[in-house]
Amino acid sequence: MLYPKHIGQLLYFWNYTLIEFLKEMLQDAGRICLEANADQNRLNLEFKNPKDLVTETDKKVEDFVINRIRSRYPLHAIFGEETGKSPGRSESGHATPLWVIDPIDGTTSFFHGQPFYCVSIAYQENGTTLMGGIYAPVLDQLFLAEKGKGAFLNHCPIRVSSCSRLIDSVMATGFACLRAGLKENNLPHFNRIVPKIRDIRRFGSAALDLCYVACGKVDGFWEMELNLYDIAAGVIIAREAGALVSDFSGGNRFPEKGILAANPALATLMVDQLNQRP
Ligand code: IPD
Ligand code: CA
Ligand code: CA
Repeated sequence: MLYPKHIGQLLYFWNYTLIEFLKEMLQDAGRICLEANADQNRLNLEFKNPKDLVTETDKKVEDFVINRIRSRYPLHAIFGEETGKSPGRSESGHATPLWVIDPIDGTTSFFHGQPFYCVSIAYQENGTTLMGGIYAPVLDQLFLAEKGKGAFLNHCPIRVSSCSRLIDSVMATGFACLRAGLKENNLPHFNRIVPKIRDIRRFGSAALDLCYVACGKVDGFWEMELNLYDIAAGVIIAREAGALVSDFSGGNRFPEKGILAANPALATLMVDQLNQRP
């Protein structure tokens, strides 16, 4: 006979197992990046466009993560940046869980031997992200969050900064829009905002940018033209650390309508800045 306390223990075990599974998968994937062969990556470099690189290691890491998930959760669906969507099989009456994978977020940094890149993996049920993990192997920074349970950097709880004035803030952004060759791009926002803040950082990984908002290393982040796999894990980590994450108008249509993340007071000021016509 299963009593409520037994069900609670089973659920705790299940969630504990799932977050442990995510953590170990991230760390093992990070090791693949560290062991990557520079020549192999140079030899087999591919281009989605002249500025958008894909290395042998991007594909190797995604294959590793997919195989690890399939071996333990064969029915789950997967959406990976490099291999696209592969549907799972729903068990009777249950929605199919979905894993969202960016095998290397910050491929340009990785290829150029810079440290700001990471493996980013999120776990969703019914379109809601329940867990997210981001691991930057060179920096040995492991960010984890579960819905409703807070966000952690290397197992220590993290919170957004309390910065409430633009002039006191250090912010991060990126230029996916330029890479995509968009005419309506981030440069007018960049030129408007940078003179009003303390300083700007362009680390090269949107996933890490969101994590750095979560732990207060930067006060705010904004970017255009991102995809679900760039932000899925970073969003739950930032939100669980107290960030407001929205589109440029303060709504929920991100990343399609842009994405910003900051503590609520600063986020409001960012919406004002990002909604001024160029
Ligand atoms: C890119 C990085 C970069 C951001 C780009 C992303 P990728 O991811 O997150 O910081 O500006 O928009 O596409 O291509 O290295 O996985
Ligand atoms: Ca990415
Ligand atoms: Ca990527």
